[in-house]
Amino acid sequence: MEFINRPFAPTGGFAATNLINIDDFPDAETDYVLELAEYYARFLKAGQRPPARLAGKTQINLFFEDSTRTNLSFELAGRRLGADVLNVPVATSSVNKGESLIDTAQTLTAMGAHALIVRHKEPRVHDELARRIYCPVINAGDGVREHPTQALLDAATIRSVYGTLKGLTIAICGDIKHSRVAASGAALFSRLGAEVRFVGPAHLMPTPHQFTNVSRHDVLSDGIAGADIVMALRMQFERMEEGGRDAAKGYFEAFGLTHESIRHAKPTAKVMHPGPMNRGVEIEGALADDQERSLVLRQVFYGVATRMAVLDALITKGSAF
Ligand code: CP
Repeated sequence: MEFINRPFAPTGGFAATNLINIDDFPDAETDYVLELAEYYARFLKAGQRPPARLAGKTQINLFFEDSTRTNLSFELAGRRLGADVLNVPVATSSVNKGESLIDTAQTLTAMGAHALIVRHKEPRVHDELARRIYCPVINAGDGVREHPTQALLDAATIRSVYGTLKGLTIAICGDIKHSRVAASGAALFSRLGAEVRFVGPAHLMPTPHQFTNVSRHDVLSDGIAGADIVMALRMQFERMEEGGRDAAKGYFEAFGLTHESIRHAKPTAKVMHPGPMNRGVEIEGALADDQERSLVLRQVFYGVATRMAVLDALITKGSAF
């Protein structure tokens, strides 16, 4: 794995107070976080401890939906920076005794939280939390709407290969309608100068008034033609209405990513997947495991470095190293 190998942390303050929507980090804040992610990636790659920038700070993770990558990488990120990290055991918490989410969050902040990481299926829960509590709220995924740290880590991963997103063509394929990864990713990648395309069957596309600066393609070979990055998405059956599993019928034959089907992209094109992957549903196992073509594990690696950068930026406000 090649890295950018950034030896110095970025300088300058950090103005954003929460990360709920990807646009909560304007261009300067986005650049700062991507640079800081590279800085931390260097420590992780070398197996070294980075500066304990969050020593004495407390980070609380509150996940109301299942997660492996996001939850554990936030936990690791905080620990790597010296924070005390608590994971609220939602299944056995007082939420089950009727306590409101706001009361739970206020209880956690009264314990001294310096950042609250929240995954919840209800859109706008995070906005309400941000209005009512006095520490940064970081959205770890909210229903179909936004997953901003996934977009940032995907951008960091792409930068680690190409140096920039400017001028790249990124094709996002599959169940875009139910994908918060596609929503946050499309907004960020376009802002960073990439051409973004959505590729998939009509019933898995968002409504026409959404994402007006993204082109739409219902034939895989057209949608990925000349692409630098081809990103597969998981078929999100849990967000589909009854009978949604029918969406998978014939899907792999028409849109599944395989060594054969991606030949229409650039010969150097890389394949991404935010995970969790369903092999044989949206992507062929051999392609996902092909270290020449697949960035899937690099995305996981950058998940930790990027979340370190996000936590550091929001908690320290970009104070000097
Ligand atoms: N990509 C992602 O959000 O994965 P998890 O659901 O495992 O956190």
